[in-house]
Amino acid sequence: MKTRLSVNINKIATLRNARGANTPDVLKAALDCERYGAEGITVHPRPDERHIKYNDVLLLSEVVSTEFNIEGYPTKNFIDLVLKTKPAQCTLVPDAENVITSNQGWDTLKQKDFLTGIIEQLQSNGIRVSLFVDPIEQFIEGAKMVNADCIELYTGPFARIFNTDKHKAIEPYIQSAKYAQSLELKFNAGHDLNLDNLAFFKKNILFTSEVSIGHALICDALYYGLENTIQMYLRQLK
Ligand code: PXP
Repeated sequence: MKTRLSVNINKIATLRNARGANTPDVLKAALDCERYGAEGITVHPRPDERHIKYNDVLLLSEVVSTEFNIEGYPTKNFIDLVLKTKPAQCTLVPDAENVITSNQGWDTLKQKDFLTGIIEQLQSNGIRVSLFVDPIEQFIEGAKMVNADCIELYTGPFARIFNTDKHKAIEPYIQSAKYAQSLELKFNAGHDLNLDNLAFFKKNILFTSEVSIGHALICDALYYGLENTIQMYLRQLK
């Protein structure tokens, strides 16, 4: 089964924001990623706009022609932005405001009522909803209960254990992916995936719908160039 590569372009915006002008150009980078083979573009607007800005998301929504995925914590401003831009997919993430990067998935049981309402609102606007979750059965079952279309498994722990014991690292993800499949939930994965661990992940979980990759891919692009790097990541998914 084909696994889509969605490139998270937040880091491009971080680099641009460091100087205040428009270099590198986030819109151009998104279009170039698509031209080089990316099958989706992901952005993660945070309330402080330290990476991608809300206005970037508005502009990107007009030009991205592959799958546009907006991820983030569902504040009122975030939901308004998503409803205005109507991406193909919205990935809800339970980020606390000041975290450096996402570091855990939803407790879909505790947050059941909160998530149910938001998911309903997004879906009624034609937006597919994915929930960022840890590879824990009860939270995946909870994702089904709140009627999510999809889960994105948080692969940070996989990446951390990968170098010491890759078989141990992948095991909970194999089980979780099978469980999600049995519930007819689509299954995405993201966080800390890179050229070392991606092929192993894909080989073990062939029916992954999508991987969302930012930090490592943009870092690799410094050495290999964006076009080559995207090709290298696509090859890992073959
Ligand atoms: N998925 C989610 C929910 C994220 O928050 C991030 C980071 O913004 C990613 C995937 C991509 O992680 P990375 O930058 O480590 O590839």
